[in-house]
Amino acid sequence: MQPQAKPNNPNFSSGPCSKRPGYSVDALDLATLGRSHRSSIGKKVLQQVCSQTAQVLGLPEGYRVGVVAGSDTGAMEMAMWSMLGARGVDVLAWESFGSGWVTDITKQLKLEDVSVREAGYGSLPDLTSVDFNNDVVFTWNGTTSGVKVPDGNWIPDDRAGLTICDATSAVFAMDVAWEKLDVVTYSWQKVLGGEGAHGMLILSPRAVERLESYTPAWPMPKLFRMTKGGSLIEGIFKGATINTPSMLCVADYLDALNWVESLGGVSAAIKKSQANLAVIEKFVSENDWIDFLAASPNIRSNTSVCLTLKAEPEQVKAIVKLLDTEAVAYDIGAYRDAPAGMRIWAGATVEATDLELLMPWLSWAYAQVCQ
Ligand SMILES: Cc1ncc(COP(=O)(O)O)c(C=O)c1O
Repeated sequence: MQPQAKPNNPNFSSGPCSKRPGYSVDALDLATLGRSHRSSIGKKVLQQVCSQTAQVLGLPEGYRVGVVAGSDTGAMEMAMWSMLGARGVDVLAWESFGSGWVTDITKQLKLEDVSVREAGYGSLPDLTSVDFNNDVVFTWNGTTSGVKVPDGNWIPDDRAGLTICDATSAVFAMDVAWEKLDVVTYSWQKVLGGEGAHGMLILSPRAVERLESYTPAWPMPKLFRMTKGGSLIEGIFKGATINTPSMLCVADYLDALNWVESLGGVSAAIKKSQANLAVIEKFVSENDWIDFLAASPNIRSNTSVCLTLKAEPEQVKAIVKLLDTEAVAYDIGAYRDAPAGMRIWAGATVEATDLELLMPWLSWAYAQVCQ
């Protein structure tokens, strides 16, 4: 039987992700629009982005927050191009985005002392074999396989190398172990449902020390330059961005940050996302034709929830299309490089009630196509 009720919000994409419940452009504070980002009001708002981010995330003392160009990719590449090469590198990859960082390190930067630690879709590489005398590059949550690291306990406090972590699908949705991380990047359009184009770059004091003590052998584009005369350009981390940001996107980001605070902070946003995952877990436990791509629950993502189906890839495509046509779920096909399946975003901008309404539609669509 075709279900009657549809999700109120069919936006289950894994990026850009759904806007927060109750989102309206009318609610944005647009006082900076049409003004210079270097005017006092522009700088004040950009500085607020840095300081409010640090406060909401509960960053350790001395960690810096900057807004940079090029979304999460821009922030990651800026960090890798600026810091890598000083010592060996361990790079971990278990899905498409992690593999992208492997390509950067081995084929573009062409670093020689590199250990690539890989695992297939659904698994994690052996975290116990990572050499923390090297710099370590990894993703906290592999968005295209729905596999996350379980925690930060595998990272020693007394590491010699830096940890550089792409955490774009994790920040505000998972317990990110800040003290274990020297560089963290994310973008606004993921867990917060913000807008694309801007990257967030968080640096520990050790990362700053690296920037101030090491100059890479390769040329550094202006967009990546974080030091001048061997010292950190502190302004970047106080709202004096390297180049021009969109003040409309900035207003949208601050609206999202305020929303996280209104929920009860990051811990409440994490709980909401976990409750969303629980809706899908219940459905999977009741149906033998659908399963998680992640091999075990402790590495199962609570944001980009990747599911495999007992169906041929063409049938999976037809199911995803049917759900789209019925306007019950948009953009839930697996990522282009991932195994055929569905990927449903379950971050805090998604409501559990909408996931509950979606689940019977999955059964219906599966029956339509496969039975
Ligand atoms: C883990 C991860 N890294 C990097 C990216 C690329 O992000 P952006 O488009 O913000 O550069 C994504 C996007 O989905 C991602 O999920």
